[in-house]
Amino acid sequence: MTDLTAFIEGLPKVELHLHIEGSLEPELMFDLAKRNNIDLPFKSVEEVRAAYEFTELQDFLDIYYQGMGVLQTEQDFYDLTDAYLKKIHSQNVIHTEIFFDPQGHTERGVAFETVINGITRALDDGCKNYGISSEVIMCFLRHLSEEDALKTLEEALPFKDRILGVGLDSSELGHPPSKFQRVFAKAKAEGLKLVAHAGEEGPPEYVTEALDLLKIDRLDHGNRSLENEVLTKRLADMGIALTVCPLSNYKLAGVTDMTKHPLKTMLDKNLNATINSDDPAYFGGYMTENYLAVYEALDLSREELETLAENGINASFCSEARKTEMRKQLNSYVSQ
Ligand code: ADE
Ligand code: ZN
Repeated sequence: MTDLTAFIEGLPKVELHLHIEGSLEPELMFDLAKRNNIDLPFKSVEEVRAAYEFTELQDFLDIYYQGMGVLQTEQDFYDLTDAYLKKIHSQNVIHTEIFFDPQGHTERGVAFETVINGITRALDDGCKNYGISSEVIMCFLRHLSEEDALKTLEEALPFKDRILGVGLDSSELGHPPSKFQRVFAKAKAEGLKLVAHAGEEGPPEYVTEALDLLKIDRLDHGNRSLENEVLTKRLADMGIALTVCPLSNYKLAGVTDMTKHPLKTMLDKNLNATINSDDPAYFGGYMTENYLAVYEALDLSREELETLAENGINASFCSEARKTEMRKQLNSYVSQ
C-alpha cells in the first residue's frame, strides 16, 4: 500500500475548529510570562508539557484557563495568533476559522478591544504574508451564566464587522445548549453565524438541543451523536458539518485508542465530517498531525482524505468566491 504521509503534508487544508488560546505553546507562555512579570507555577517548558495529562475535559480546561493568564496586551494576542499562522502555513492550511474566548480575558481585566485588535491585526498580516484567509468566531463560556453571555454579546457588537459568528465552549456536562437559547437568538438576529460544541462529553440530547434550540449552522465535535441512530441520520440528511478533533478526543479520553476513533464510522454513515486541531499546543498536534493520526489508525484511503479536505472547504463560512478558489487549489493538488 502506498504511504500517504507526504500526500497529507502537502494537502491544502481548511481548519474550522481552533481555539486560539489553545495554540499557546509552552515556549511562548514562558516568554509572555517574563514580558508581563507573571509567575508561572512551572519551572520549565518540560514541566509544563508533563502537566498535560488529562483524564477528562475539565482537567484540560483548568490548565487552559490558567495558561491564558499570560495574555495581557494587544501585542501578546498578536504574537499568539501570528505563531499559530506561521505554524499552519508550514502545514499547507489555506483557510482558518478561529475561536476566541473573550470571557476568559475580560474576567481578568483585559479589555475586549485589546483581545480582538491583537487577533485580527495578526490575521490581516497573515493574509498578506502567508495568503491564509480567516474568519473569527467568538465563543461563550457555558459554565458562566446566560446573563454574562448576553453582556459579552453586547460588548462584541461594536466589532461585528470582524466577528463572523458565535460559538459555545467550556465545560459541557451540566451546561446544556438550552441555557443559551436567548443569547443565540439574539446573535442570529444580529446576522451572526452560529456554532456550538455538543456531544463532545455531553449526551446526544445536547446535540439535538443545539440543532433545535440554538439553530446552529455547524456542529463542533458531535461525536456522541453516533449513540443515537435517529439523530445520526438526521445529521446526515441535513448535511450539517461536524468539526471533528481527533487528537483532542484522544487526549481528553473520549477515545481511548485511536483505532477506535469514530471518524471512519462518521464517513461511512454519510456524516459531513471535517478534521481540526481544537487546542494543538495542548493535544500534541496541528492539522497535519490530526490528519496523520486518523489516517494511520483508521487506514483511511486517499479518496477519504480528499473527501475530508473537500468537506472542510464546503463547510467553511467564507465567501463562495474563496471556496471556488480553494476547490481549484485542492483539485489541482489531488490531480497531480
Ligand atoms: N475550550 C477549548 N477547548 C475546548 C474543548 N475541546 N471543549 C470545550 N471547550 C473548550
Ligand atoms: Zn473546541
